[in-house]
Amino acid sequence: MEAYTFPLERFGGPSRVNRLKATADRGPTPCLYIDLDVVESQYRRLRDAMPYADVFYAVKANPAPQVVELLTRLGSSFDIASRYELDLVLSFGVDPARISYGNTIKKRTDIAYAYERGVRLYACDAEDDVQNVAELAPGSRVFFRVFTQGTGSDWPLSRKFGAHPELILEMARLAAERGLEAYGISFHVGSQQRDIGEWDDAIARTKMLFEDLAAEGIHLEMINVGGGFPAAYLDPTHPVEVYAGEITRFLEERFGEGLPRIITEPGRYLVADAGVLVSEVILITKKARQNLYRWVYIDAGLFGGLIEAMGEAIKFPIFFEGDGSAEEIILAGPTCDSMDVLYETHKYTMPNRVKSGDRLYVFTTGAYTHSYSSVSFNGFPPLEMRMLPREPNPIPRPGSSLR
Ligand SMILES: Cc1ncc(COP(=O)(O)O)c(C=O)c1O
Repeated sequence: MEAYTFPLERFGGPSRVNRLKATADRGPTPCLYIDLDVVESQYRRLRDAMPYADVFYAVKANPAPQVVELLTRLGSSFDIASRYELDLVLSFGVDPARISYGNTIKKRTDIAYAYERGVRLYACDAEDDVQNVAELAPGSRVFFRVFTQGTGSDWPLSRKFGAHPELILEMARLAAERGLEAYGISFHVGSQQRDIGEWDDAIARTKMLFEDLAAEGIHLEMINVGGGFPAAYLDPTHPVEVYAGEITRFLEERFGEGLPRIITEPGRYLVADAGVLVSEVILITKKARQNLYRWVYIDAGLFGGLIEAMGEAIKFPIFFEGDGSAEEIILAGPTCDSMDVLYETHKYTMPNRVKSGDRLYVFTTGAYTHSYSSVSFNGFPPLEMRMLPREPNPIPRPGSSLR
């Protein structure tokens, strides 16, 4: 039997775990710890890699006030999904000119609410919405979200969002007629996109839309290349610098000298690597003598922050404390719902001497965990989130990587 190993170096090494444990060992589980130094260095890396692009942080990925405050200070703009995220961002004194209402599904009352507070940039993918924005946010800039397939991504965002280019042309004409500024095109190639070529396809479609509309006298000025930038999960990806280099090349190939304003909307990339969810083993059992695998139940599950493990879409790196030989296991959450199984097909390993009460560390959990966790399914409280104490002199780490 092989000894249990985990590629700790890829996720910050033993020093990162020791720093985390200095805080977390006194705390409860499950609990998500966010390292703001990592958020800062991720932001700086993206800025360095695409200095010409404006970063609009997708607040939904992690709306912790400390994250929003830090990114405000670093000069980020914000992509909001609701009036509630708008209130949060405005509470840090962010200029509404730095806010984009990126959710294409907006109540009429929420459009009016955002307009009253100064928001003048809206995403649309439906004629109905363009009409509403024209009426309730007159004169605003609108950009149109074009379909993508999401192929190659761990967490696709296709079907529900975007419209066919033909409909986008109609929406842009309607926007211009109704006194809005038809400002640009957006797309989202799917979250944790592993195939960088997906941006090339979307940029090609965008270029066609720019040309078709220009021929009618509607001159777009902006491309929003969305999110989809990588976090460090179990399956490795290229570092963000490679993504940025390729996207820049695609843009330059299609648009040459006349590059419009470029916006990025990263969520996962900025915050995922900053989070470690500390969890505890509740129970280990074999359900029948002849079964190959033991079930390991932990106190964090699909409804307590790890919903992206659904269908084993996102494979979080999981490090167990303790030693022993590597045992393949089935990993499940704590609720009375049979869906609450984290990983069964992909076999995670655990040291075979781990027992109930031992701790484990789920890396790369800073995005779409706390904000997704249920309020009180089975009575479990929402996932607790705490900030790690910041390094005395946070060192910008451009070019460094947790990978
Ligand atoms: C409109 C919009 N922009 C940006 C993002 C962020 O995407 P990611 O987390 O892949 O960076 C999302 C994610 O759902 C989104 O819906």
